[in-house]
This record gives sequence, C-alpha cells and structure tokens, in this order.
Amino acid sequence: MSWELAGASLKLIMAGMEPVKDAPMAKYGYWRVGGPADLLVDVHDEAQLAAVMDTDLPVTVLGNGSNLLVSDAGIRGIVVRLRGTFRELSYRDPSNSSGLSSHLSSEAGLALVGAGMMNSVLLARLDKAGLGGAGSLAGVPGTIGGAVKMNAGTRVGEFGDAVAFVRAMLPNGSVTNLTADQLAFRYRHSTLPDGAIVTRVAIWVSQLSYAEERSAVEEHVAYRKSTQPLDQPSCGSTFKNPPGDSAGRLIEAAGLKGAREGGAMISEKHANFFVNTGSATANDIYTLIKRARDTVYEQFEVLLEPEVRAAGEWPDGCWPL
Ligand code: EPU
Repeated sequence: MSWELAGASLKLIMAGMEPVKDAPMAKYGYWRVGGPADLLVDVHDEAQLAAVMDTDLPVTVLGNGSNLLVSDAGIRGIVVRLRGTFRELSYRDPSNSSGLSSHLSSEAGLALVGAGMMNSVLLARLDKAGLGGAGSLAGVPGTIGGAVKMNAGTRVGEFGDAVAFVRAMLPNGSVTNLTADQLAFRYRHSTLPDGAIVTRVAIWVSQLSYAEERSAVEEHVAYRKSTQPLDQPSCGSTFKNPPGDSAGRLIEAAGLKGAREGGAMISEKHANFFVNTGSATANDIYTLIKRARDTVYEQFEVLLEPEVRAAGEWPDGCWPL
C-alpha cells in the first residue's frame, strides 16, 4: 500500500471506521463486474464523512450499486457506504418546526430520510405509516441519495417532485442545505454540486395521497414485472429516454435485441436493459453500450445519453460517451 493510502487508512481508523483494502467491487454492483477499490469504508455519521473528505483522496459514494458501471481496473481512492445515522428516518410536523419525532401527528408534513436508506425501505416504512410521497421510487433499486442526484423516477412520477430540501456535504467537509428549486430537478437530472455527497433528504409526505399512490404503485410493479428482465443482473435502464421517444424502442428498432459483447447482452425482453449473462466484464458492458449508442445514432440520428454512471479508472476517451 502506498504511503498516501496508508496515511488515509490510519486517519479513517482514528475516526472510528474500519477501511477494507482492495475491496472487490464486483461483489457490490448489480452488474457484478469491476475491479477492486483501494479502500472501502462504511461511514456512520457526518463527522466520519468529514474525516473521509479530509484525506484528500478521491471519494466515490456507493449507493446500492444499482446504477453504476465500475471499471475492470477498479476505483482509486476511497469508496464510501453510508450507514448508521445515514439510514435513519424521522418526521417533522408543520406545527413543530424544530423538533423531529418518530411519527407524524398531522395528516401531512416532512419526512427526513438519511441518504443511505434504500428506496424500498423508505417505501415500506411510509406504507406502514399510511403515508404517500415516495411512490415514484417503487421498484427503483437504489438509495435515497442516488435518487436525489439522478431525480429517479418511473411512470408513477419523479422523486424530485417530492423533495423539499437536501442536506449535503461538500468536498471541503462543510455542510450545506439546498432547496428543491436550487437543485433544478428535471428528467433524470439535478444540479447537485460536483463532489457533493447528499447526507439527508426532506420530502413531503401525506396521508391524503396515500391511497391513490398505492394503487399506482401496484399497477407499476406489475407492469415492470411483465416488461423488464428483473431476473438477470443489470442496472435497469442503460440510457435515458430521448425527448419524445424511448431508448428501448430505438435500440430494438436498430435490430439490437439479443446483441452480445463477450458476456454482456441486450435483453430480449427490454432493449434498454443490458444484462450480464454470467461472464461479462465491465469492458464488455461498456463496449455494448457504445455499440448501441453508435448504431442508434447511425440509423436514426438520435444520440442516446447513458443513464447509468461510470466509476473508476477507464482508458482515455471512454467517458462521457
Ligand atoms: N419499447 C420497445 N422495445 C423495448 C422496450 C420498450 O419498443 O425493447 C417501447 C415500449 O413498448 C414502450 C416504450 O418503449 O412503448 C417505453 O418503454 P417502457 O414502458 O418499458 O418504459 P421505459 O421508458 O423504457 C421507463 C424508465 C424505467 C421505468 C419504466 C416504467 C427511463 C430511462 N426508464 O422505462 O426506469 O421502470 O419507465 O415506469 O426513464 C430505470 O430508470 O432504471 C428504470 C428501469
């Protein structure tokens, strides 16, 4: 291990963390590909996250690994997983602007959600409390921090529409609050500052929207099951939909359903899902993404933009596509 990594590792240990050296990232991503991270560390509160930022090594946040293509060369620096306080949920009633509580006593208010909480966990907790607000996340297999950054969404809606404000840590270790307006959400996009790590998100929740949202969610979950290859490793939609069209339709029209590069394949069930048939490398998946993008452009003059994000070291010129 280099002196720089050893120094960083010591700093993390002193701050109460347990960094893992050369952590195999293929174990953590939905695609099951990618090389090792120099250091992987679970971070439990903002003080620990500030200590990570203070190391001067590059920091990558691993949400749920469900929208991330990690390179075969792996990730240099520190990969962080948000745990502990970053997985907590509390409520704030409109009549009580300062205090947080474990439940909402009015029919509507704010839920304060740690950025490391899985979307599915938030949905289940709100469901139990009879609250609507996060239905747009049904079936989206990520964490709340990723859902903010990407403005995750489905046919039910976009997560950004539920967000009131976001707390984030900047690369210099300071913490800032950003309103939904400042984040300028649009389709699968927010203006979260570069290098900022979302720590907590406040979303509007309400008993009034619960029943309607619940039935939209149920319908959507059934729709996904019938249209998406949920039984094979993938990162969901590979490309964003271009305005007025759909990436899946275009890739199918380009004749690419079932196309392969090594162990990576474009799903026969949904052409915007690129699956690992078992032996894919990150490079196979990258090559297939590029081939689909180039073929669709040649045939239809539509330039698809990846929805999945790339992490780690790639040969020059790979990203952005
Ligand atoms: N289509 C094809 N061929 C295909 C796939 C789709 O012609 O192989 C056509 C469908 O017939 C439909 C249109 O394309 O007319 C749209 O397809 P679909 O309804 O499956 O939705 P999508 O736009 O591909 C979006 C989200 C999904 C979300 C679904 C359902 C994006 C990029 N994707 O997919 O989100 O689950 O709607 O709500 O917006 C994700 O973001 O990872 C994701 C899976």
